[in-house]
Amino acid sequence: MSKITAAITGVGAYLPEYRLTNQILETMVDTNDEWITTRTGIKERRILKEDGKGTSFLAINAAKDLIAKTNTDPKDIELVIVATATPDMKAASTSAYTATEIGATNAFSFDLEAACSSFLYGMSVAARYIESGKYKKVLLIGADKNSSMINYEDRATCIIFGDGAGAVLFEPNYEGYGLQDELLRSNGEGREFLQAKYGGSSYPSTPEAVAEGKHFVFQEGRTVFKNAVFNMADVTERIMERNNLTNDDISWLAAHQANKRIIEATANRVALESEKVMMNIHKYGNTTSATLPLLLHDYESQLKKDDKIIFAAFGGGFTWGAIYFKWAYNS
Ligand code: UT7
Repeated sequence: MSKITAAITGVGAYLPEYRLTNQILETMVDTNDEWITTRTGIKERRILKEDGKGTSFLAINAAKDLIAKTNTDPKDIELVIVATATPDMKAASTSAYTATEIGATNAFSFDLEAACSSFLYGMSVAARYIESGKYKKVLLIGADKNSSMINYEDRATCIIFGDGAGAVLFEPNYEGYGLQDELLRSNGEGREFLQAKYGGSSYPSTPEAVAEGKHFVFQEGRTVFKNAVFNMADVTERIMERNNLTNDDISWLAAHQANKRIIEATANRVALESEKVMMNIHKYGNTTSATLPLLLHDYESQLKKDDKIIFAAFGGGFTWGAIYFKWAYNS
């Protein structure tokens, strides 16, 4: 029997309706549309406003979109992975709730947390289950309600992050499509530059910490920026080299949408034309675990069977990596 590879066979997405535009942010903090646009490429982000709705709400809706589009029976799904940096709650798995709500009652499930690299790492994990031959349908969802940990008085972070979710279905492929190679890395020295310090096990929330806003995300933007540019470009170049791929061979770069300048720097390193660089940061900002599946969702109609895609991400921790992927279907 031919080798099993892990292919993506469907894509779904969900975005909350509310649009937080640069113009609205101008009324909230000392910033302006021109600064945000030139420094980040972001024009607006979506925010989940409804009380009591968390990341699972986004994840469930993205999964339902995928299930409807692909005509999948949720009872056939064997594993649900929710890649997220903003789980609904502590102690209770977001993925278990998500799986039950979408009717994946025969599945087991777990959350996967690797900051902005959560979905990229999730692709690696989902692929291993499929490649083992034991699992036939693995649902990987990238979902984040970043607005739950953002201080809307901090102009260094509130202009960047948005909420959203994307979902992909992984299935076995016997013609060699799907995940080809991966290069995943992490370095804990980066923790101090991007974190929400309070509210975890090291520093549980206290009334004083919350009053001082210490439970919100803090980012030393310039340091994260430099590390993101260097590392995302580095793994992208290396994965191409070791698979003997030139810029002509690559159909698409699907890079984490954190800052347009970081994405362009990665594309420049491997001399990739801008038409091959997926970009939707202007519409959604940085949706953490959702950026990569949202790119697939927005570009799905343009993707062709055998397209060669490089996925790349960089995030808190630090965590980062690149994946080389062959697309399996025409829409
Ligand atoms: O997804 C996880 C990984 N995250 C990232 O990859 C994000 C990486 N970092 C970045 O994208 C960028 O560093 C930012 C967009 C966060 C900031 O852009 P920057 O070009 O690195 O700006 P900066 O922090 O160096 O600040 C430049 C200036 C400063 O003023 P002075 O000191 O030069 O007078 C800031 O105070 O811009 C000022 N500034 C702002 N001005 C208007 C910072 N934020 C704002 C703002 N509006 N929102």
